[in-house]
Amino acid sequence: MNTRKTTIALLASSVLTMGVGFLHAATPVPAQEPIEIYKQGDPAKGAKLFQTICAACHTVGGGVRVGPDLAGVHKRRSSEWLHKFIPSSTKMIASGDPDAVAIFEKFNKTLMPDQVFTTKQVDSILAFIESRGGDASAPKKIDMTKPAGNPKIGAALFDGRRRLASGGPACNSCHDLNHDTVMGGGVLSKDLTKAYSRLGGEGVAAILSNPPFPLMKRAFQDHPISKAEATGLIAFLWEADVEAPMEAGRDYGWLLFIRGVVGVGIILALLGFLWRGRKTSLVNAKIFERQMGSVGVSD
Ligand code: HEC
Ligand code: HEC
Repeated sequence: MNTRKTTIALLASSVLTMGVGFLHAATPVPAQEPIEIYKQGDPAKGAKLFQTICAACHTVGGGVRVGPDLAGVHKRRSSEWLHKFIPSSTKMIASGDPDAVAIFEKFNKTLMPDQVFTTKQVDSILAFIESRGGDASAPKKIDMTKPAGNPKIGAALFDGRRRLASGGPACNSCHDLNHDTVMGGGVLSKDLTKAYSRLGGEGVAAILSNPPFPLMKRAFQDHPISKAEATGLIAFLWEADVEAPMEAGRDYGWLLFIRGVVGVGIILALLGFLWRGRKTSLVNAKIFERQMGSVGVSD
């Protein structure tokens, strides 16, 4: 039922997106007034918006996460560009804006979700970014030392051998990951084998505490992932990526096939054992004998 609802919702939203896109493409864009400079924004309000909406994917001076480091972005891009991109990057990419398309390609076509913002709110976010100063010219390296936490627990949470305490879905219902210790999974969203070196421990932690992706957000908003669970998952993602990655070129398909063969063998052996007392003569013959016996006829 839930999957049906989700599918219908997804379908409806894509139809809506199509409609909006079509209308947008079909109506001429009116000449825009130059947008007010963000200096009018309130950095404190901007900080709050940034923390709740943007921080899972962006830092200001802390390095790349899901999206680029935004330190100094107001110097790289015009205010007008930012006022269009931040509420609806998807529209801008669809319109073919070369900078928007270039950065979208650079970030592996990860969609930044659209948000409903007033001009004032965007101003406040930009005022906050400016107040932090700096430039993202020297990209921060991701810390690849072993994080705290038990990777075994993380692995079990990842593929659902251990349930998340609040009842959220196992990660492998949407994500695949190549590692000996877990069952691979869905292809609905990104493969997480290399997630740690992309995002770092802090980046993953930010995503797990407040998933910024609409689909993942929906899955966990009423079933939050606990801090302890996140610690285990992060340790596991580190292990899968850094310490014990699957050998390159190892044939995952064959591995699964062999596991399957062994599994079937075990099940057959088990069935043989459980049914060891099964009848070896015809059941009808036994019934016939019993009935004959009860009316006093015997041979
Ligand atoms: C789900 C992750 C995600 C969230 C949440 C998110 N972004 Fe992004 N952002 C991205 C990605 C990925 C890119 C790279 C461009 C692309 O793929 O569309 C990006 C690009 C940008 C850029 C362009 C940077 C440049 O160098 O040109 C700006 C500005 C930006 N985001 C601001 C924001 C702000 C402000 C918020 C919060 C209101 C926000 N983003 C929320 C993922 C995200
Ligand atoms: C309902 C589906 C769903 C479930 C369940 C889910 N995710 Fe996600 N996750 C997504 C989507 C969608 C994205 C956005 C990336 C994409 O478009 O593929 C994402 C992105 C991520 C990313 C960022 C990847 C990157 O490199 O940008 C991480 C890390 C992540 N998920 C971890 C997890 C973990 C750990 C779990 C289990 C606790 C989990 N997810 C469960 C749907 C899901």
